[in-house]
Amino acid sequence: MSTLVSSPAGPLRGSVSVPGDKSISHRALLLGAVAHGETRIRGLLEAEDVRSSAACLRTLGVELVLAGEGRATVAGAGFEGLCPPAGPLDVGNSGTSLRLLLGILAGRPFRSVLMGDESLSRRPNDHVARPLRRMGARVSGRGERCLPPVRVQGGRLRPLSYETPIASAQLKSALLLAGAQAEGITTISEPSPSRDHTERMLAAMGANLQVSGTTVALQGPVRLRGGAFTVPGDLSAAAFLLVAACLVPGSRVVVENVGVNPTRTGALEVLAAMGADLVVTPLAGAGGEPLARVEARHSSLRGVELGGELIPRLLDEVPILAVAACLAEGRTVIRGAQALRIKESDRLHSLAVELGQLGAKITELEDGLEIEGGRRLQGGDSQCYGDHRMAMSLAVAGLVAARPVRVHGAECIATSYPDFARHLAALGAVVAEEEP
Ligand code: S3P
Repeated sequence: MSTLVSSPAGPLRGSVSVPGDKSISHRALLLGAVAHGETRIRGLLEAEDVRSSAACLRTLGVELVLAGEGRATVAGAGFEGLCPPAGPLDVGNSGTSLRLLLGILAGRPFRSVLMGDESLSRRPNDHVARPLRRMGARVSGRGERCLPPVRVQGGRLRPLSYETPIASAQLKSALLLAGAQAEGITTISEPSPSRDHTERMLAAMGANLQVSGTTVALQGPVRLRGGAFTVPGDLSAAAFLLVAACLVPGSRVVVENVGVNPTRTGALEVLAAMGADLVVTPLAGAGGEPLARVEARHSSLRGVELGGELIPRLLDEVPILAVAACLAEGRTVIRGAQALRIKESDRLHSLAVELGQLGAKITELEDGLEIEGGRRLQGGDSQCYGDHRMAMSLAVAGLVAARPVRVHGAECIATSYPDFARHLAALGAVVAEEEP
């Protein structure tokens, strides 16, 4: 187990290119694999989660080369090109790999087993299994919540018309990938918009898809064409550096080439509402996704109330926004965020415990958090529960605490942002891995 120690220090200054967007990287590999022809990817996130998707695709017989420096080639042979796997498909820590693969495998005429690490084995999949069963797939897991290992016997699917009970891009994407294999129109409506990378990529690869408000209709069966994709930088990774810049006095940090798909930019809006000095400069987009350069300077932040439709647009940024709220003047209330309970950890609980331990005044609510800001964090030992975003948030807290924060189990950061500590250090932060 590795420990990352971050210490209070001087300003953060400089410019960084964050790694490729995790959600888009998974989709580029998975959709490339079920398209016809070669897909060439640039800017792919080279981290454990994306390698898990790649490994599962190889087990399904897909020819795929990860060439380094964000370059990858996938030789797609259509959905029908996938072969029965010789053994279980191990998705590691990656919920996105599991849910999206479930949608693909629901339409394949063979049996697959999807499994993962300890954290993933606690995460439910019944929300995906239920509609896939309605389409005709046989999906089962442990207990009523369909915990991994998840077994799927795919086959001929019926199209589906479905209103999802929650705004979840993994659920929506799984159903679209299953719908792409069914004969007829599959229609998915969400209570509010979740990230739409799958829709954008399906359309770019030739699918006939109509989006109207929060409803997407896909005409199946779909024959996708492979192509060239450039993955934008991950706003969810950039958020750690941008918040760090807002919190550490004297800082000015620029993040280059970051994806600013409007279904993902809730955290930038919330930070602006908190008084953050952010400048977003649009750049020419890539791969059907908008791009920008984002600059953040040290700012005096104030608390905010957030909830409702904003939550799915900043879902993965709640941990780092909670750190910002601890330092902001006044109270921050986050509601409607119960989805955070089934992420890589129960994030509402882990944030309340760990930030509380560092000296924050933070209360866990059933569906959110209440934070009384404006108090200096004390520092000390922290656990991250195998959750990469907890680990990075706690490390940022250490930059503005009275004493260093020691994040135990920080190796999980490699699931999404292996260069996190190196990038922070390059900006001037005092952050280092502790020798065991
Ligand atoms: C993701 C969707 C979100 C997000 C996750 C990535 C995706 O999960 O939290 O990190 O790539 O589709 P939900 O679909 O469970 O909301």
